[in-house]
Amino acid sequence: MTEPVSISFHATDIEAIASAEGTVAVIIGEAGKLDTAARRVNRLTKGALARLVESEGWSGKKPGEGAVIDWPVGLAAEKLVVLHLPRAATLSEARKAGGLLGKSLGKAGTLLLAGGTRRVADVALGAALMAYDFDAQRTKKADAKGEVKVMAAKPEEAEAAARPLLAAAQGVFFTRDLVNEPANVLTTEEFARRLKEMESLGLKVDVLEEADLGKLGMNALLVVGMASVMPSKVVVMEWNGGGDEPPLAFVGKGVVFDTGGISLKPAAGMEDMTMDMGGAGVVSGVMRTLALRKARANVVGLVGLVENTVAGNAQRPGDVVKSMKGDTIEVINTDAEGRLVLCDVLWYTQERFKPSGIVDLATLTGAMIIALGHENAGVFSNDDAFCGKLLKAAESEGEGAWRLPMGQVYDDQLKSRIADMKNVGGRPAGSITAAQFLRRFVKDETPWCHIDIAGVALRTSDSATAPKGATGWGVLALDRLVKDGYES
Ligand code: BES
Ligand code: MN
Ligand code: ZN
Repeated sequence: MTEPVSISFHATDIEAIASAEGTVAVIIGEAGKLDTAARRVNRLTKGALARLVESEGWSGKKPGEGAVIDWPVGLAAEKLVVLHLPRAATLSEARKAGGLLGKSLGKAGTLLLAGGTRRVADVALGAALMAYDFDAQRTKKADAKGEVKVMAAKPEEAEAAARPLLAAAQGVFFTRDLVNEPANVLTTEEFARRLKEMESLGLKVDVLEEADLGKLGMNALLVVGMASVMPSKVVVMEWNGGGDEPPLAFVGKGVVFDTGGISLKPAAGMEDMTMDMGGAGVVSGVMRTLALRKARANVVGLVGLVENTVAGNAQRPGDVVKSMKGDTIEVINTDAEGRLVLCDVLWYTQERFKPSGIVDLATLTGAMIIALGHENAGVFSNDDAFCGKLLKAAESEGEGAWRLPMGQVYDDQLKSRIADMKNVGGRPAGSITAAQFLRRFVKDETPWCHIDIAGVALRTSDSATAPKGATGWGVLALDRLVKDGYES
């Protein structure tokens, strides 16, 4: 697994600045005012820092932005990173500043002079999140990043604030690795193995095999994986850190590769369908985070792991399958497979755990990308209060999320001529009819949110805190949902 850079917190020692190798970073708050450490940097660099922050270019900087001075005179360091972060900076601004620093971390280590910056833990998280490089499939590995030493006015306080955030960074990295990994490496077997390994963190992890799924009647899930040589699995992860209250449940779509099946996808871009396990990846990353930071809550994570491919025994358009719930589904399009996987896992989750709420995540529809692009995930819910909590958690973490409507008229699009429902509702409102399909497998008394992460799971350009590729979108939001709503 890709490990985040190690970060430690120390009292400020301005005598260490001149000889620090690698990267030195300094934070500039209000209107270019220099604190003690910044004044020392300025003196060592013969006034370069003051010239920068008094320049016209600097006056246009927004909070969280900054500049890099290469090979600064007077310092042993190769880079001086100057970050603009006012005292009243928001969490997102602090993480953005950290992200800028994260791009400049080298193997010789980093010294961050944070002074009295309030959101120093968020700067550290931003740096850790941005300094991610997936090199598992390269023969020439990137140099490991040297330690980040943070000097702060209150190092113990900063360390305590950063500890759970760095556990979240590990969860995000776990998710990103899973999503970036190609399908010949991240088979259903390998996925389950990586989850089983998390037992060492104190999670209870059970793997349900095809025979078990058959006995449970999860035929909708099983028909999706039927044509694959990879065995379909459901992995159940339990974190029991709370009392005896019913758990919150996270459910993820884990299609390790989606060819579309007999309703085959076009060749162009099909390689991206290695990320079709993104929902399962987020669920796995959150469970890892909760275990690492020993969350005081009961949470279960369930993922349906299958490959959707073609063979003589593949399901075909027009087939009818009976779900675990008992409802029959006419499979109009074998490429609408995610909902077939999720409907059985959702039903199983409710039958087994009677959860206080369910959040499912899935790279469910291409229509989601058309509707909201790559900055916001689509949220669908049967419960305003529960949905409000989720949206607030996402907003607090700077992860874009936007609620879309549901309703009977959309559900009507799923009517089938011969079965209880069809698995597709036509082109109009494609993401909503997918959500309506899932809703048929959620009991009225279960608060539920569905998050379609098709647009946000993978990026083709950097964001403030994620380099291009898998983002791990959602790990922070769900971790926050647990922290703010389910922990004593
Ligand atoms: N995995 C895809 C959705 C997807 C597309 C995710 C692009 C990320 C990027 C999903 O299984 C799918 O194929 N959905 C179909 C549904 C349609 C057949 C109703 C789609 O969006 O075309
Ligand atoms: Mn599909
Ligand atoms: Zn899919």
